[in-house]
Amino acid sequence: MGHRLSKQNEKNHQLPARKGSLKPENGSKYVDCTNHNYFEPLDDEELHRLQAQHFLLRLIQHGNFNVPLKKTLSLGNTKVLDVGCGSGTWILDMATDYPQSSFTGLDMSTLFPTQIRPVNVSFIQQNVLEGLAASDNTFDFIHQRFLSGSFTTSQWEKIVIPELTRVVKHEGWIELVENDAMLENVGTVGKRLCDGLIQVFQKRNMDGMIAKRLPSILESTNMYSEISKVETEVPLGKWAGDIGLLALKDMTAFFSAIKHQMVEEMQISFSEFDGLLAEFTQEVEEFKTIRRIHCIYAKKSHVA
Ligand SMILES: C[S@@+](CC[C@H](N)C(=O)[O-])C[C@H]1O[C@@H](n2cnc3c(N)ncnc32)[C@H](O)[C@@H]1O
Repeated sequence: MGHRLSKQNEKNHQLPARKGSLKPENGSKYVDCTNHNYFEPLDDEELHRLQAQHFLLRLIQHGNFNVPLKKTLSLGNTKVLDVGCGSGTWILDMATDYPQSSFTGLDMSTLFPTQIRPVNVSFIQQNVLEGLAASDNTFDFIHQRFLSGSFTTSQWEKIVIPELTRVVKHEGWIELVENDAMLENVGTVGKRLCDGLIQVFQKRNMDGMIAKRLPSILESTNMYSEISKVETEVPLGKWAGDIGLLALKDMTAFFSAIKHQMVEEMQISFSEFDGLLAEFTQEVEEFKTIRRIHCIYAKKSHVA
């Protein structure tokens, strides 16, 4: 007797996989390392989503960062690192705003520009989980945004925060920006999707609500002072005008990008998932759904 497909696979096995996505299909032209747990696609669609998301967030957050370094960056000779820089859009934008300072984008993938870039910008391909190549106390400012789907909770505590702490200078600043996987003001469909997303994280020993833990992880290093937090509510839907519409487009693009992982956890078919996503875009208008972003920043005040 042949191998019996599960009910879900029976429904899904003939549907096309998203081209170029990293997992579960493999074969992304943008990444060659395997020692990582990132589950989102790394392809042209994702590159464009990250670029658009950057400019949307800059608008909503009234700028690109919260650490008190505007003057220092303008004066120059300030070294900035963006960890998991993706498309490199944050770095390129910052490098334009502060031409006297120098900017390095680091990512395990090469979604960032590999040919042409401003003179004060460099990009390096590196896997954070293998440790950073930079020497101790190198950067004045380290920024890291949306890597909750990249590290397990234990990796945050044992590798990522210790490595960032090692390479940031004494008196330098670190800024971590993360989303809550659970959206707020959701109806039944939004709740179902978010529960599915949280399960996708949990299955990989990741925390979709990692932002809540970051201040205490930073504190536990005994290296930081002035640990601060800024929260931003991103409205999803046309109830919030053009910004809301763009943010909703970004959110649904994100859910679509991880469709394979979502249907597996939710035990539904691709078409059921598409139906839920369509309902979600209606539901947000009734409930005025929001996505919460946390920015946690702190100053390295102690010497190791
Ligand atoms: C959601 S994207 C965020 C990109 C960018 N920070 C932004 O805000 O647009 C996450 C990025 O983290 C990178 N990444 C995941 N795991 C990594 C690792 N272990 N080392 C370095 N980069 C990693 C991915 O390649 C991807 O570009």
